[in-house]
This record gives sequence, C-alpha cells and structure tokens, in this order.
Amino acid sequence: MLRLASATPPTWAAAAIAHMDEVLLDHAHCEKKAASTAINLIFRYPEYPQLVTPLSALAREELEHFERVVELMRSRSLEFKRQRPSPYAGRLLEIVRKEEPQRMVDLLICCALIEARSCERMKLLSETLDVGDLQTLYADLLASEARHHTTYIDLARQTGVVDEVALEHRVREIANHEAAVIADASELPRLHT
Ligand SMILES: [Fe+2]
Ligand SMILES: [Fe+2]
Repeated sequence: MLRLASATPPTWAAAAIAHMDEVLLDHAHCEKKAASTAINLIFRYPEYPQLVTPLSALAREELEHFERVVELMRSRSLEFKRQRPSPYAGRLLEIVRKEEPQRMVDLLICCALIEARSCERMKLLSETLDVGDLQTLYADLLASEARHHTTYIDLARQTGVVDEVALEHRVREIANHEAAVIADASELPRLHT
C-alpha cells in the first residue's frame, strides 16, 4: 500500500508522454539521486547499524535503474546531461524537523513518499504508453519503487525512535504536505510535477 494522500490525475500521463525525452532525462536524474540519498543516509547515521545493509542494497538497485534508463536513452539517441530539476524534492524536505533523531525519521518518511509518488507515476506511464521498450521499463520498475516505499517506512520503524502511533501520525502529516507540494508543482515536464 502506498501512503499517498492524493492521486495523480490520469491526464498527467498523456502530458508527460508528450515530452517523453525530457521526462526520461529527469527519470535518469531521479534514479541517480535516489542512490545518492540512500548512501548519504548511511554516512549520516552510522549509529543506526540496522539502516546500513538495506540502504546499501537500495542504493545498488537505484544505480541499476539509473544505468537502465541511460541505456534506453542512448538507444533513442538521447544523452544524459544536466537538467533543471523539479522543485518537488526541495519543497517536500522543507517539512523535515531540524533536531535529531526526529530529522532522521522525517528524512526516511520523505524518501518513502518520493518512492511512492514515483511508483504511482510509473504505473500511470506503464498503463498509458504503447507496448514497447519504454512501457516495459516502467512496468518493470514500478514494483521496485513500491518495495522501496515499504523499505523506508520499515526503516523508520526499526530505528525505534517513534512508536507505531507516532509513526503513522507523522506519515500522514508528511503525506498531506507531499500532496500539497505535488499539486502546486511546476509545469516542467518531470516525473514529479
Ligand atoms: Fe529506482
Ligand atoms: Fe526507488
């Protein structure tokens, strides 16, 4: 179950597909960023050894996704390059509390919600695209992103910082914030706009 507080309108997929080259480049950047975020969490929280192996595995998987997207881009004569990012992640992270260990819990929940939104959007793309290599890519990846969503929620729980009631409460709060951020996102053709 994805803990999102809003559903993307089905019209989003057709608009994204109309700018597929830009969305693919953004997708490649998102996979790279997802790997780097997981590694950063390992650096930042060595006193929570329960995070190390799951985050390392997740980072590896995101890098595999990155390579797969870049390979597909090359097959379409597109190059991986710089791109203006969507303001989505930056605005989502504004809700993260400054003090530890609440900061860590919030970061893990934000990561869970980014994975959930990616999964939801990939599902819409996979249902809207014509059968072909792109459609296969999204149909394949969305299951991993759903799993990553669950992994991040489980990790937040396993830190032992919050009990189940407090965790559920904070997930709902951040999911509501995420829904507001995505509703107000820029018009750039991106995975999270
Ligand atoms: Fe991924
Ligand atoms: Fe992921």
